[in-house]
Amino acid sequence: MSEKKTFYITTPIYYPSASLHIGHAYSTVATDAIARYHRQRGDETFFLTGSDEHGQKIERKAKAAGVTPQEYVDPIVAGFKELWKLLDISYDGFIRTTDEHHVKAVQKMFKKLYDQGDIYKSKYTGHYCTPCESFWLDRQIEDAGGVCPDCGGPVELVEEESYFFRLSKYADRLIQYIKDNPTFIQPNSRTNEMLQNFLLPGLEDLCVSRTSFTWGIPVDFDGRHVVYVWLDALSNYITALGWGSDDDSLYKKFWPADVHIVGKEIVRFHTIIWPIMLMALGEPLPKQVFGHGWLVLDGGKMSKSKGNVVDPVQLCARYGVDAIRYFLLREVPFGSDGTFSNEALIARINTDLANDLGNLLSRTVAMIDKYFAGRLPAPSVTAEEDAALIALASELPAKVDALMNELHIPDALAEIWKLVCACNKYIDVTAPWTLAKSEAGQERLKTVLYNLAESLRIVAILLIPFLTSTPANMFSQLGTAPAQSALAAVAWGGSVPGSQVHKGDSLFPRIDVEAELAYFGAEADKAKTAAESTPTAETTPTAPAKAAHSEEQAPAEIEYDDFAKIDLRLAKVVAAEEIKKSKKLLKLTVEVGAETRTVVSGIKQWYTPDDLVGKTVVLVANLKPVTLCGVESHGMILCASDAADENLSALTTLAPMESGLKVR
Ligand code: MSP
Repeated sequence: MSEKKTFYITTPIYYPSASLHIGHAYSTVATDAIARYHRQRGDETFFLTGSDEHGQKIERKAKAAGVTPQEYVDPIVAGFKELWKLLDISYDGFIRTTDEHHVKAVQKMFKKLYDQGDIYKSKYTGHYCTPCESFWLDRQIEDAGGVCPDCGGPVELVEEESYFFRLSKYADRLIQYIKDNPTFIQPNSRTNEMLQNFLLPGLEDLCVSRTSFTWGIPVDFDGRHVVYVWLDALSNYITALGWGSDDDSLYKKFWPADVHIVGKEIVRFHTIIWPIMLMALGEPLPKQVFGHGWLVLDGGKMSKSKGNVVDPVQLCARYGVDAIRYFLLREVPFGSDGTFSNEALIARINTDLANDLGNLLSRTVAMIDKYFAGRLPAPSVTAEEDAALIALASELPAKVDALMNELHIPDALAEIWKLVCACNKYIDVTAPWTLAKSEAGQERLKTVLYNLAESLRIVAILLIPFLTSTPANMFSQLGTAPAQSALAAVAWGGSVPGSQVHKGDSLFPRIDVEAELAYFGAEADKAKTAAESTPTAETTPTAPAKAAHSEEQAPAEIEYDDFAKIDLRLAKVVAAEEIKKSKKLLKLTVEVGAETRTVVSGIKQWYTPDDLVGKTVVLVANLKPVTLCGVESHGMILCASDAADENLSALTTLAPMESGLKVR
């Protein structure tokens, strides 16, 4: 194992614009497991999380709720802390961008960059999208058909005096740095994405102040301006350690960060703006930025109004914290997108936790209790099958270490489960209940039960970073002192013969799948009814509720001739690809009879290109061509969707039909 060191790890700081959901919990639980892993191996670890509280969006939400921005965010941030407590998140620091020491340090940073000429004053003209907190150039808005290229919503034309940060000055240095440090951006695929999509095409200077709202850190030498959010937000990683304050001892000890864990959509800010800020400040760059994927719901983005139970508080109350942590850490390769579903969660709990691990522990303890009056026997007669089990258990810590160093969290758990499964197999092969029946089998039985208990002790130690109450429960049932939980105690042979085992409750009770899914169905119905009659969780109390579909105004009656003006055709999707610049758009190549055309469709949120290739869809074939994100679109795919656009399905035919046929 590699030698001890300091280890600094961070989550993104979360927007307090609504309560956090299971996707945010995913980011934080993963970071927590890595932090706990480093503490277990003896590294002096600092784990930082926090809240990103400034910006126009919060200012507007607070206004709509009739409170000050600070009054608006305070209870939400308190809720973050409660959630992290519930999920056993072991953070060492929690930074709020409204903390006084952060505000002062950001002002100092801004002034330093201004004094050295890296920040300058100029005029900003652009289009601003409030929900995305993004500025767009004329060209980008034109390409997107007059709406925000990311969310498709309306944008406001803004012209104001702003300060700009000279990103362009450092672009070449950053490109070289990324090339020289191939592990800086992880997973590897994201390095290429950053270089090809953003850095190599050229960087524009970044607007870093605003005068059109006030909820931000004031630029202290120019009171009309507040610092614009990304400079404020990103600097949290060093201001939390005391950078720019009288006491920067933590900064000296822990910076540069070993890894920033962030979601894939904000990798760009962390690997372009942040390193350039640090270069300009003359500070070292973080060693790594890891972009994980998104946890999505079946069929798209998660939302409470959808009626699926994605509130981590409810899930923990129903299944326990460790079951939820296990699911989040195990289900999806770290770095890829993955689906959250109640079925998948229940399957993980029943298979991995209740059957594989829970049963193994209860059977082992029950047999020691029954055959040896609850005292762990000393190993005695050995047999061929022991060696493989002992080898697996002995090699496991190094394998887990290697995987965790690469942040392959689910693989590390899978590796631990190999030992769990090998133990279950070992029980089948050795058949302890048969050994117990004969005098001759007694000595062999001692070894078998010792080997099982010892393997479980090792499993419990290795699970400490991932699950927070289960390892202690296992130690207690096995009669092993919790003091043996350190990684140093992981070597084979640590269980002490004669220890008293304690039969306990099952670690993870098995879930009745049908009853549970029926429960979720009922909850979903309740939530849907609530969503249709009351404001959603995302709307503020004073904001009007989204219109339920039943209340939508039906369009006026039309003549058949009006309908006949629309040329609806069946089209077969022969190729599909993402439009990289856009969060919404897919570029489809469709065959309409003998003709092939390109159609741009805003359905990326609900479909991957692979979902669509080969499918027959309904096309509005005589729609005037438009250019969206630089691609000319010849027609429109018809889809059905609910009022909130959370469920969407492209239309197709009940029976397979030829492309080009008319729909009437
Ligand atoms: N405030 C910025 C980050 C500033 S860091 C200097 C922000 N906040 S956020 O609250 O919108 O998102 C925080 C993190 O949560 C992001 O990394 C984002 O990817 C992650 N997630 C939000 N929804 C998620 C899923 N559904 N799945 C996985 N991660 C998710 O961005």
